[in-house]
Amino acid sequence: MTNKMWGGRFKSGPAAIMQEINASISFDKRLYRQDIAGSKAHAAMLAQQGIISKSDAAEIKRGLDQVQVEIENNRFTFSEALEDIHMNVEQRLKGIIGVSAGRLHTARSRNDQVATDFRLYIRDMVDHLDGQLRDLQVALAEKALAHAKTIMPGFTHMQVAQPVTFGHHCLAYVEMLARDRSRLKDARVRMNESPLGAAALAGTSFPIDRAMTAKALGFDRPMRNSMDAVADRDFVLELLSTAAICATHLSRLAEEIVIWSTAQFHFVKLSDKFTTGSSIMPQKRNADAAELVRAKPGRILGALTSLLVIIKGLPLTYSKDMQEDKEPAFDAIDNLSLAIAATAGMVRDLEPDRDVMRRAAATGFSTATDLADWLVRTLSLPFRDAHHITGSIVALAEKQNCDLPDLKLMDMQKIEPRITKDVYKVLTVEASVNSRASFGGTAPSNVTREARRWLKLLQ
Ligand code: ARG
Repeated sequence: MTNKMWGGRFKSGPAAIMQEINASISFDKRLYRQDIAGSKAHAAMLAQQGIISKSDAAEIKRGLDQVQVEIENNRFTFSEALEDIHMNVEQRLKGIIGVSAGRLHTARSRNDQVATDFRLYIRDMVDHLDGQLRDLQVALAEKALAHAKTIMPGFTHMQVAQPVTFGHHCLAYVEMLARDRSRLKDARVRMNESPLGAAALAGTSFPIDRAMTAKALGFDRPMRNSMDAVADRDFVLELLSTAAICATHLSRLAEEIVIWSTAQFHFVKLSDKFTTGSSIMPQKRNADAAELVRAKPGRILGALTSLLVIIKGLPLTYSKDMQEDKEPAFDAIDNLSLAIAATAGMVRDLEPDRDVMRRAAATGFSTATDLADWLVRTLSLPFRDAHHITGSIVALAEKQNCDLPDLKLMDMQKIEPRITKDVYKVLTVEASVNSRASFGGTAPSNVTREARRWLKLLQ
């Protein structure tokens, strides 16, 4: 049998393998809501413009409502022979309302239809991801407020560098996520234009009102060029690149959670809710959720790469290649959404061990910079000289196998005679973090203020 929608010039149906490679219904059925909303807006506009009758439009609307109910109640039979969501919906509409269903596709093509559906879907996902990221920011800012004074080692090169507060560390991620959200917001503004009415590629001879359908679907305006409207997928690319950056941010936090929850670090504890056991080693508690969040950028960056490669070199306008845009996008969005939710769960779940973190913060001569700063401030030494003297004092502590605050004043004075006992005040990790009250610094007073500021902003 030839295709009911476009089979007029065909004598027979497609080969089984043709049908299989051609059909997208298995994955684009996800767009049913957007497809139905687009069709309703289109039908209402056709009626208002006198292109179809008011009674046909009313029938179409009634039928589409029923299709939606059937799909949502799992009473709809999707057919591969009908290729995609657009033709599946239209065919069922015909079953419900009869011949007037055939008028719906006036002044429209599946090319502008799919571009519209997918834009609406991606826009919804932008809003969804934004809400999830906001929730993760709240979780991080709440942890930050609770741990504004919790001291931990700050690392560079994965070596202990200077003491920081756990709250400050959490707020670093709040900032990164804020930029991810701002990228989503920017992308949303650019994508919020309507392709509907571009028809196949050249526009239409019917007196349509594209501003009306754009408005009905919540778009800011119709796209200005019909060829661009059906040919580009940069709105998906922008979401995927933002998703890739965001997933990369999450993977860094995930990696830290993996490291922090090892027996060797023991900085944080995850509860039973966010760990799993081993089937052979009874003692194990693995941070599997964190490891999976760490891995997600693989497929999300993969999705971005896939779509860039699919679109690259495609001549205008629509080609069937573009049907390959959906699966990677769906997969990337689903997995990013899962990763954000899991990360928020872990952040709320994790309990920092204050004592272990504080002790670790005091290792590795982490207050050496404070000593150098003291020499600059108190003895007016140039920083480079202070750096050198401090280096000698660190070497001495290393030789004596002790930390900087344990050194005898006498021993330090052998290296720099003008050092006084006052120096001990700056050598503790508490003094170190308290002193870093410069704008953006780790001082608990800063962290408390910043965490409160974020929580208020995020309300
Ligand atoms: N299923 C198609 C897609 O996702 C819909 C558009 C088909 N257009 C066409 N001219 N065959 O891209």
